[in-house]
Amino acid sequence: MTVLPATEPSTVPARTALRRHYLMCRPAHFAVTYTINPWMDPAAGADAGRAVEQWEALRAAYLALGHEVSLIDPVEGLPDMVFAANGALVVGGRVYTARFTHAERRAEGPAYAAWLRANGFPDVLDAEHTNEGEGDFLTLDDVILAGTGFRTDMAAHQEAQEFLGRPVVTLRLVDPRFYHLDTALFPLGGRNVAYYPGAFSPGSRAVLERLFPDAVRAGERDAAVLGLNAVCDGRNVVLNAEAADLIGTLREHGYEPFPVDLSELRKAGGGPKCCTLELRCV
Ligand code: ARG
Repeated sequence: MTVLPATEPSTVPARTALRRHYLMCRPAHFAVTYTINPWMDPAAGADAGRAVEQWEALRAAYLALGHEVSLIDPVEGLPDMVFAANGALVVGGRVYTARFTHAERRAEGPAYAAWLRANGFPDVLDAEHTNEGEGDFLTLDDVILAGTGFRTDMAAHQEAQEFLGRPVVTLRLVDPRFYHLDTALFPLGGRNVAYYPGAFSPGSRAVLERLFPDAVRAGERDAAVLGLNAVCDGRNVVLNAEAADLIGTLREHGYEPFPVDLSELRKAGGGPKCCTLELRCV
């Protein structure tokens, strides 16, 4: 009879980074002049100069990690245009355009679509339904997770699924601080996610538990500094430096945290992921 050891030695799997192509927009005209989420207080003021410095450090982080970064010109009068993630959803080289909820941001959709058309992405669908691009659509290997409740309409989930030919799973957001899916969840490579359960309806929490039994779950403290608004290349995780507990947990799971300070952009309710639109050719 073979005697099994009482406990298996625990092994943390080695994580592999894949080179990414990101689109970013320098926050030259950044300001907080209106309130469309609970983070935005026009009276508190925001400093575009500081925002540019912090954003430059984020861009430098991606370059240091070996990724490609393209830039779209900022447009005067569009203070939130720095949040490139909302500009579109690009999967398999196809572009599903954004259609913003609030009038203040509406002109950003056509600006991003025009850049993408002019830069090697001719296959563009002008969305009929309200959606805020990668703010509410997060792409994994087999599925696209899609948020609704504050910004993106569920009809857009169907529209994106039909156009992209990938299964889209609807998740309902319930806490106004986490108004976009990417403020509460990020993919850890193509098969797993990290998320803050408190941002989701009970049914959506159950869906996440079923799809991702090995997910990294973050607590309220990390969520409240927009720690879940992170970008993972399969191994490295670029995230807000204030998310101390999450940084530790990611390390335990074999990921390499890359902390950045985006405190100025957080005054508009944005973090590293918000500033980053991934251009996926596959
Ligand atoms: N002020 C912007 C808004 O409320 C912030 C967008 C942040 N972007 C994101 N992908 N979560 O629309």
